[in-house]
Amino acid sequence: MRKNIVAGNWKMNKNLTEAKELIKEIKKGLKKEKVKGKRVIIAPSFVNLNSAVKKTKKSVIEVAAQNMHEAKNGAFTGEVSANMLTDLGVKTVILGHSERRSFFGETNQMLAQKVDAALANNLEIIFCFGEQLEDRKGGKHFDVVETQLKESLFHLLKENFTNIILAYEPVWAIGTGETATPEQAQEMHAFIREVLVKEYTKEMAEEVSILYGGSVKPDNAKEIFSKQDVDGGLIGGASLKSADFLAIIDAI
Ligand code: 13P
Repeated sequence: MRKNIVAGNWKMNKNLTEAKELIKEIKKGLKKEKVKGKRVIIAPSFVNLNSAVKKTKKSVIEVAAQNMHEAKNGAFTGEVSANMLTDLGVKTVILGHSERRSFFGETNQMLAQKVDAALANNLEIIFCFGEQLEDRKGGKHFDVVETQLKESLFHLLKENFTNIILAYEPVWAIGTGETATPEQAQEMHAFIREVLVKEYTKEMAEEVSILYGGSVKPDNAKEIFSKQDVDGGLIGGASLKSADFLAIIDAI
């Protein structure tokens, strides 16, 4: 169901000691009444997931992985399977982040396989996508986004989308300090919902949570989250400081 969600993608940051400390600080700052009706998710690196699941057990904080391999198991040195995540108690996985696409060559087709493997293992997915700066400058951003969704997700049944959160992350706004304006975010989110209506149904499109990601900070979060089709944020840099992350949670 469509919910307000703030998710922190820690990327390749925080060792075990630092991760424990950050979780402790977030837990301390989260007041029950303030998170009513909201979901708070953190995505530490693989090696810290086990500890993160244990440390968040009695809190509202949920733990996600940042990636997974599509195969069940086997000779894939350095990779992690869906079952390894669920066995730890991880319930959500981020797939398709632009850094995975650009640094590790993940394509829409590869992501379709990862999506299937995650769903087959009852993992919820935060599916990331978004255009490059050249795409936007060339006026191709809507086409690029539609193709990313189509090639990785539109083989699914509409029922599958109860386990999918979409995260629009324009690549030019990630880690650059440059955010999409709230209007640009709203325009794209509304477009995404229209695409879902066209492919599936209006009811289904209304139920899917669509997050915005890209330089969300305490001082711009409220305005971005106030837009009708923006259901929350996927936060990079600002999720690494408890005060900033808590302020962003407050803003939704
Ligand atoms: P920043 O918030 O650091 O721009 O990162 C966004 C992001 O990539 C979240 O997945």
